[in-house]
Amino acid sequence: NTETGLAMLAAYLVGSIPFGLLLTKAAGLGDVRAQGSGNIGATNVLRAGGKKLGAATLLLDLLKGLAGVLIARFAFGEDTVPYAAVAAVLGHCFPVWLGFRGGKGVATNAGVAFGLAWMLGAVYAIAWLGVLAVTRISSLAGMTAVVVTAVAAWFAGETEAFIALAVIAVLVLWLHRANIGRLLKGEEPKVGSKT
Ligand code: G3P
Repeated sequence: NTETGLAMLAAYLVGSIPFGLLLTKAAGLGDVRAQGSGNIGATNVLRAGGKKLGAATLLLDLLKGLAGVLIARFAFGEDTVPYAAVAAVLGHCFPVWLGFRGGKGVATNAGVAFGLAWMLGAVYAIAWLGVLAVTRISSLAGMTAVVVTAVAAWFAGETEAFIALAVIAVLVLWLHRANIGRLLKGEEPKVGSKT
């Protein structure tokens, strides 16, 4: 229906703001897509521009996901929320402004999880930070958080949130296929090491 379409459009547009690219350009670091892994996400902004810029990208990309869900909830109704959740991550991963080549969705999906239910956001944060602390591998931490949170939604009986998070999980894993290849070869760089 119209509400769902508008909620998805709004969430997509919010999600499509490429903060990592904008911040690194504003900092005079050039195009982050030509550096490190080529990704526009916080991990690669950290590599290219340091801790402050990486943290700012992480926070802003997270807030996009949260905003997409909250806009849907308060402007278009609760029924539109799971659709907007997927659309916000799609906006980050396939931004129309960058020829549909965006990020990998981990930070934006963190905001989505918090927007769906604060408990899911807490699960996401704990899984993400826990795996990151133990392994120092950003991609592994992100993928674990995405999958664990979808499973948590299932066990919590949050069926609609589960479906949205499961769709997002498939997308996020697909976008990490190069990372998965490097992980299997033991070649995935750790946070803080030079690529
Ligand atoms: O969310 C992106 C992160 O999981 C991996 O980023 O730059 O190492 O491919 P990158």
